[in-house]
Amino acid sequence: MTEQNSDHSFPLSDVVAKRWSPRAYSSTHVLSAKDLGPCFEAARWSPSSGNSQPWSFVVGFRGDELFSAMVASMAEGNAIWATHASAVVANITMTHSAEGKALSHALYDLGQAVSHFSIQATAEDLLVHQMGGFNSPELGETLGLADNFTVVTLMTVGVLGDIADLSEKLQDRERAPRVRKPLSEIVIQGASY
Ligand SMILES: Cc1cc2nc3c(=O)[nH]c(=O)nc-3n(C[C@H](O)[C@H](O)[C@H](O)COP(=O)(O)O)c2cc1C
Repeated sequence: MTEQNSDHSFPLSDVVAKRWSPRAYSSTHVLSAKDLGPCFEAARWSPSSGNSQPWSFVVGFRGDELFSAMVASMAEGNAIWATHASAVVANITMTHSAEGKALSHALYDLGQAVSHFSIQATAEDLLVHQMGGFNSPELGETLGLADNFTVVTLMTVGVLGDIADLSEKLQDRERAPRVRKPLSEIVIQGASY
């Protein structure tokens, strides 16, 4: 095992090797909008289909109304640990133009922007945990989104707290090895590893 409880077939850049999705967030760490600026700037510079930049973000900081609304939309199994994070971000994409034309790569583009965010966050010594376990239509309504926008994922941002503060079940998941399919299974033609 190398960085972050994982094994690597090839050496990775520090920020890629160090990224992982924690649950044991510090409930005393405070983030400011300025702290998250470089992460959103990295998302801004993500590539997108036709440079359409279909992504947008809503940020809540622990203790404010947006944070509470986003945690309230989460599945219980996520809310229980996410509530300790320093911030929650709603990752939103435009699915159709105002004229009704579908943006065929909107989900792909948003995912890539979130990946840029996560990698920059790692460089800022922050930890990001994305999630799909939340009520997207309900949250979209709470946030007053137009019909052609959808909240695809939420992500928590913060720093590591004490793993012992989690339930035993979550402690086990937090300490479990991070596993991946081997390269030989995902690079299926043209190169063998
Ligand atoms: C689209 C998406 C949805 C996810 N949904 C959840 C979720 O609802 N709850 C959760 O605990 N983790 C969620 N995750 C985190 C993944 O479980 C995690 O990224 C994966 O297990 C790999 O672990 P790692 O990020 O530490 O490498 C999600 C990640 C992605 C990208």
